[in-house]
Amino acid sequence: MLDIKEKTKEIVSEFDLSDESITTMINHYILQTKQGLKETSVRGMPMIPTFVTSVPNGTEKGTFLAVDLGGTNFRVCSVKLNGDSSYELIQEKAPIPHDLMVGKSYEFFNYLALQVEKFLKFHHSDKFCLEPSSNPRTPEVFKMGFTFSFPVDQTALNRGKLIRWTKGFDIKDAVGKDIVGLLQSHLNMRGLPVHVAALVNDTVGTLMCRSYTKPSGGRTLIGCIFGTGTNGAYSQKIKTIPKFDAAAHPEITDKIMVINTEWGSFDNDLISIPNTRFDKQLNENTPNKGFHMFEKRISGMFLGELLRLVLLELQQDGYIFSDEDKIANAETQRNNLTTPWSIDTSVCSKIDADESSQLHDTENIIKTFFGYDTNFEQRHAIQLIVKAIGKRSAYLSAVPIAGVIIHTKALEKFETIDIGADGSVVEFYPGFESMVREALRKTEIGDDEERITIGIAKDGSGVGAALCALVA
Ligand code: BGC
Repeated sequence: MLDIKEKTKEIVSEFDLSDESITTMINHYILQTKQGLKETSVRGMPMIPTFVTSVPNGTEKGTFLAVDLGGTNFRVCSVKLNGDSSYELIQEKAPIPHDLMVGKSYEFFNYLALQVEKFLKFHHSDKFCLEPSSNPRTPEVFKMGFTFSFPVDQTALNRGKLIRWTKGFDIKDAVGKDIVGLLQSHLNMRGLPVHVAALVNDTVGTLMCRSYTKPSGGRTLIGCIFGTGTNGAYSQKIKTIPKFDAAAHPEITDKIMVINTEWGSFDNDLISIPNTRFDKQLNENTPNKGFHMFEKRISGMFLGELLRLVLLELQQDGYIFSDEDKIANAETQRNNLTTPWSIDTSVCSKIDADESSQLHDTENIIKTFFGYDTNFEQRHAIQLIVKAIGKRSAYLSAVPIAGVIIHTKALEKFETIDIGADGSVVEFYPGFESMVREALRKTEIGDDEERITIGIAKDGSGVGAALCALVA
């Protein structure tokens, strides 16, 4: 039997990506980009035309509603765009109960509409007449942008059928339905003065928001999310999108269109991306088995689960967490080790960042989350594994970024390129951006990596959705 050091080395090397494999993935990404722009296929990269045909320049003005559905919370906000790259935003968040995430669409959309009603009553009761019978004033209708961060086959700016759920959602009767229609009908049932004017992916919102707010210089090429899930959006000329029926939309043929790549579904057939035994086990436990395979190696929903699966193997092989190490105190007795999805990525972030002597912070985290005592050697092994999972996530994240930059030839056209990013992983995972940059330097982009700026676009799904509602 290997000792713990050798065993750790072996596992760490399974998460390692060679420079060559990064190049292979980028080439495959560009190939799938081209295929996706040509035709839609079930297993290919969706490359969805969004009907957003311009990006803002900071002078846009007005007040809009925005709602955001994409992860564990539903957010409702109103956004006042001041026309000088600044904005004011009021927002409320409501957690989405798990039984609604996997239940029926009627209850789900009813819940969303209820949150919009509460928000309007609380924050905008002065402007809106919610009970027309008691007040003859015609209510002003709010234009609303709906940030919906799942793959949708969009047929207009405010129409689109759900292709599939991701990130643990599984409301089966909503698949194939027009998402805007579902929300609008529940808003109407409640008599709310709201018109859903735009259906926006969070990456598109991020691209719009960063374009509106960014400090001068550098064109924003990509809006991307590294959070619960991952995805990116960029724009290209409509004439260069073969699958888009330009003849049916003569008014916009000469414009650009923002494309929602849905890069979480890059290489669903695992031709170029890594596939360790832990990745295989994880996939088996997801409702969207075989899809969004790239996302399952990168984003916040999955990193903690990958760690759990590795730790479980280490325990089964007798390296850590023996019965004697079990902490007797009932409060720390958790079944996290054997419960799928019990470990949040923030656990990985904390262990990765631990520089305390003897890794005492890690010791406490492990006690709290797994209920076991560890010695230094074991903690060191666990930290090396966490770092390997985190680094692989960041290196993989560089693949679609490089892919879009190379595909659009942006470095030939612009002096600097700007990327707007959002999500808990890019924001909070220690050293994530530096690792993405490190990987970009290993590609044909090389030293030109210095010509790329990456900025966090915090309110992408609120402000971006408002900007889309404005152009609607
Ligand atoms: C969804 C995308 C979304 C991304 C980030 C993915 O699972 O398919 O639509 O943009 O998560 O939220």
